[in-house]
Parts: sequence; C-alpha cells; structure tokens
Amino acid sequence: NQDRSLEVIATSPINIALVKYWGKVDEDYIIPWNSSLSITIDQNDLCSKTRIRLVQADESDEQIELILNGKKDKVTKRIMNVVNAIRERTEGVTIKQIRDGNQIETHFEKEELLKMKIMIESENNFATASGLASSSSGLSCLSFALAELFGVKESFEGEYSTFARLGSGSACRSLYGGFVQWHCGFSSRDQLDSLSKEELSRKSIAKQIDISSESMNYWLDNLQIAICCVKPEKDQGLTKEIPSTDGMKITIDTSELMRARLDCNLPQKHIEQLTMTLENRDFNSFAEITIKETNQLHAVCLDSYPPIFYINERTKKIIKQALKINKEKGKNIVAYSIDAGFHVFLFIMKEDKEFVLNEFKDLIENDMDRLIQTRIGREGVKIIK
Ligand code: PMV
Repeated sequence: NQDRSLEVIATSPINIALVKYWGKVDEDYIIPWNSSLSITIDQNDLCSKTRIRLVQADESDEQIELILNGKKDKVTKRIMNVVNAIRERTEGVTIKQIRDGNQIETHFEKEELLKMKIMIESENNFATASGLASSSSGLSCLSFALAELFGVKESFEGEYSTFARLGSGSACRSLYGGFVQWHCGFSSRDQLDSLSKEELSRKSIAKQIDISSESMNYWLDNLQIAICCVKPEKDQGLTKEIPSTDGMKITIDTSELMRARLDCNLPQKHIEQLTMTLENRDFNSFAEITIKETNQLHAVCLDSYPPIFYINERTKKIIKQALKINKEKGKNIVAYSIDAGFHVFLFIMKEDKEFVLNEFKDLIENDMDRLIQTRIGREGVKIIK
C-alpha cells in the first residue's frame, strides 16, 4: 500500500521594479506594453514559502485547495492559468527516495498526475498586513514549485518565467537574483501585430541583465535597501485601493502621457541607461533614472481619468526628504522607488547609510510603521525540499 503523493517546498524573494511595468497588451497572457527592470530583494529578509502536495483525490474533492497565511483562500483564474499551463506540459515524473537504506524510484504517469488533487499552502515571512505586495514572491514560488512537482523542464530559456507571468506579471522577475529584465516580447508595434498570443507569450520572458561580475559584485557589496512601510492615512486601508490590473487599464485607456511614454519608448531608454549606470557603478545616475521612473509611473496614474493616487501625504514627505538630502549633498546619495501603493523603497550606498537614515529619523518615528533594512538578493526562487 504505497503512499502515492508528492511534495515540493520552494521559497521566493520579492522584487521591486526600477523601470516600471504598467499596462497589459493582453490580460490573460499578461503581455506587458513595455519591458521592465527590477532588483531582487534578499529573501532572508522578505520571502514567500510555498508547500505544494499532489495527493490522490476522491471524485467529490475540490481539485485544488489554497491556504494563504493559514487561511483558506480563493483559487483565482490567474492561478488556474498557471496550473493549466504547467499541467499541459507534464510528461509524468519519477522521484527517487531512500527507504530503509535503499534507493527506490517511483514513477507517476501523466494521466495519474492530472487526476491528483493539488494542495497549496503559502505563507510570507513578512506580515501581509504590512501592505507590502506579496504577489511577486507568491506567484513565482507557486509556479516554480508546481513545475518541479509536475516534472516540467524548461523547453526554452525563460519558460519558467512565462508560467510565473501568467500568475502575476511582476512575479516573472522573482525567478532570478540580482538585476532582472522582463522583456515585453516585441520591439515594435508592427512586430506586435504580426505575432500570435502564443508566440508573444514565449518571447515575454525574464532574464538577468548582462553586466560584468565585477560590477555585479560592487552592487551586491555596497547597495543598501531600506523599505519604508508608511503609515496609512485616516480612512486609508493598508492595501491599495485600486488593484494594479484595474489601475493599468484606466491608465492605458485614458492617459495621453502614457501614450507618449510608450510612443517615445521611454521605458526601453531607461532600461538601457540604467543598465549602463549599473555597469559603470554610477550611483548618482542610477538614482536619477530610478527616481524619474517612479515619478513617471505616478504621473501617468495622475494623468489617468478618473485620476489614480497611490501615494499619500506621508509618502510625499519621504520623497521630499530624499530630494533635500541629494540637493544639499550636491549629488544623489539616496534614490527612491514606489509601486502602486504608498510604501517607499530607498536605495543608499553603504558608506552613506548611517548619515541618510539619520536624516530620516523623524519620519521613521512619526510616519512609518516600520523600516525594513535589507539588500539585493543574490538568489531568485529555489526549491528547498
Ligand atoms: O504584477 P502586478 O500586477 O503586481 O503589477 C506590478 C506593477 C508595479 O508594481 C507597479 C510595477 C512593476 O513593474 O512591478
């Protein structure tokens, strides 16, 4: 009476985009209007951990069960898209186990795997209530663990990132450590029009950016990250009021500034400039592009109709303080990045950290729930069991 169940546990970091993704060409495949570039956060400080089991199912059982931070949660259409894409690719799986000192192999045929119930338990080592988005770490963890369980090997470079992307766009960048670019999958409108959704989906992948190991080590050794968990304002919940999918749609449909951003290829330009600053170890320019990109995201949100505000007054105080510090120094020693919410990621070089955080002392005390000090994550998603 052999136990025919399978289990995998994976962990995954969050990432923060320096060049922002905002807007989908296709809502189901999650193809973005532009490429984006992110930095992976050290998963010792912030990560999702996901355990997935495949067990024999009764006819009456639910096919998939999801427990998120200890509570049963809804299996969304996006999660089903990830599950279906991976199930479609399975050819069966063979596992090796040591039992009574002997190695035994157990094989699961594709047909058997497809009938099994999927039990997902996912948790974050950071309070979801902090308001920090966990979709990037959560969905990358889920998709990578599922691919492992179903024995799916990449048939082209970046295929795993296409699975994660179906769950949440930004999740595809959490597969890798360091600096990661999510390629939109097309280089012109003409090319976009000529490709099928399936072809685009195979091209819209994440990859680590190409910089020398000396430069990469420089950033790994020196860049410090402080995440400001900003206090919500009166009547403001901890989670964002307009989910990113809805916000993106409003912006794409109504913002002329957004059209200009895409027509002028600004995200691509910013990716190229930023990659160069990383290669050149040039924090001053790194900060300038990072700040401009974040401002542009919030500018196109404000330009949407009805306008969308993600930041609050406390966020603005942090922005102003960062700009004041840079102005007084005569060069940039602190950069900020803000997603579709009111929390702030600060980037500071090691030698300036003490000084900069001291300048933020009052704001840390009065306007933040907490400050998480972290660094770049060398690693992306990984299987731990
Ligand atoms: O992948 P989503 O739906 O969480 O959207 C992410 C959008 C931003 O965080 C604002 C930007 C980005 O590139 O991560």
